[in-house]
Amino acid sequence: MGKPKVVLGVSGGIAAYKACELLRLLTESGHEVRVVPTAASLNFVGEATWAALSGNPASTEVWETVHEVPHVRIGQSADLVVVAPATADMLAKAAHGLADDLLTNTLLTARCPVVFAPAMHTEMWEHPATQENVATLRRRGALVIEPAVGRLTGKDTGKGRLPDPAEIYEVCRRVLARGVGEQDLAGRHVVISAGGTREPLDPVRFLGNRSSGKQGYALARTAVARGARVTLVAANTALADPAGADVVRVGTAVQLREAVLEAAADADVVVMAAAVADFRPAEYAGGKIKKKDGQDPAPVALVRNPDVLAEISADRARDGQVVVGFAAETDDVLANGRAKLLRKGCDLLVVNEVGEARTFGSEENEAVILASEGSEIQVPYGPKETLAEAIWDQVAVRLQP
Ligand code: CTP
Repeated sequence: MGKPKVVLGVSGGIAAYKACELLRLLTESGHEVRVVPTAASLNFVGEATWAALSGNPASTEVWETVHEVPHVRIGQSADLVVVAPATADMLAKAAHGLADDLLTNTLLTARCPVVFAPAMHTEMWEHPATQENVATLRRRGALVIEPAVGRLTGKDTGKGRLPDPAEIYEVCRRVLARGVGEQDLAGRHVVISAGGTREPLDPVRFLGNRSSGKQGYALARTAVARGARVTLVAANTALADPAGADVVRVGTAVQLREAVLEAAADADVVVMAAAVADFRPAEYAGGKIKKKDGQDPAPVALVRNPDVLAEISADRARDGQVVVGFAAETDDVLANGRAKLLRKGCDLLVVNEVGEARTFGSEENEAVILASEGSEIQVPYGPKETLAEAIWDQVAVRLQP
């Protein structure tokens, strides 16, 4: 089999320079990339850069090499088209089927998955015209990644930034692996908690745990690639924001509960992948706790934290909401998992065995997905992404039409 063929469409926004890195990631991982820039985008990055980095000509118009019928051939032979950045103008043209240059012609002839990574000012993104165009494109099966929140071209900040190129690359990779017509989470809102909570003792110390957040982030990435709107409630993680996810940062279990409940109000799915502290110090010392010569330290009194998973499962914000929990166990893994599934009242419980060198912080995971109706799916040791996909497969069959 030849290399997967990717068309990288670049439209005229300042974020065009970030597409150079996306191109590099695609070519270095074995994709044959044809860059199709719009004429406006050449104001930001020139044709020579695209040709040199891709090893292919980069034309903007349909009038070059006409004998090769490029306006039809490039789209027809692509395995994936990704437009990054996609400007408001490009989204409008794509939504209305205009075809006045090579990229818009390519979008009309492509029968493969199409990913748009919009980047523009917040006002343009939020304009009803843009939002309707995005909705049209999504309805037709395109994957339009939500822009990131952050610094924009000028001094302003807001929603509209192009996500990190490495994260756009991850979306492309997932979409290429799954193929067209596989966006089984399209139109669904999924809420994922990730990371580990920290319960402060004093201004410099906390009770925490070893969760890195990688499994929750893998769930977020894969859900975006399957078409979901994703809210990621991240507790103390140090990972890059997944492209397309709305990231809400929290510290403690109480903050996590608040953020998850708020996002869950209109969610189709809630996945509690975070390691939530069961206890917190009964008292918070406003100043640093000092040692005193000749005295033993005072014991730390703890109080219970709310159980977010049990609460969400018992009191579903929506009919048919699917709730997924995780269980980290060191002994009697399956028996403890079954008991926990019953106790928490969720639909699925992902049970993994943990130990010093297993699961926490690693790139790989192994688990059993227990379902409330009794089924048991074994997911062999492998990338956290593979486990994430297996979880979404189980969620997707439980979602109401
Ligand atoms: N969880 C939660 N709120 C808590 C504790 C845990 O929502 N206060 C969620 C976790 O996000 C996870 C699941 O519950 O999805 C199981 O977490 P785990 O720590 O394994 O279970 P515990 O309830 O702490 O049970 P035990 O301490 O008996 O193992």
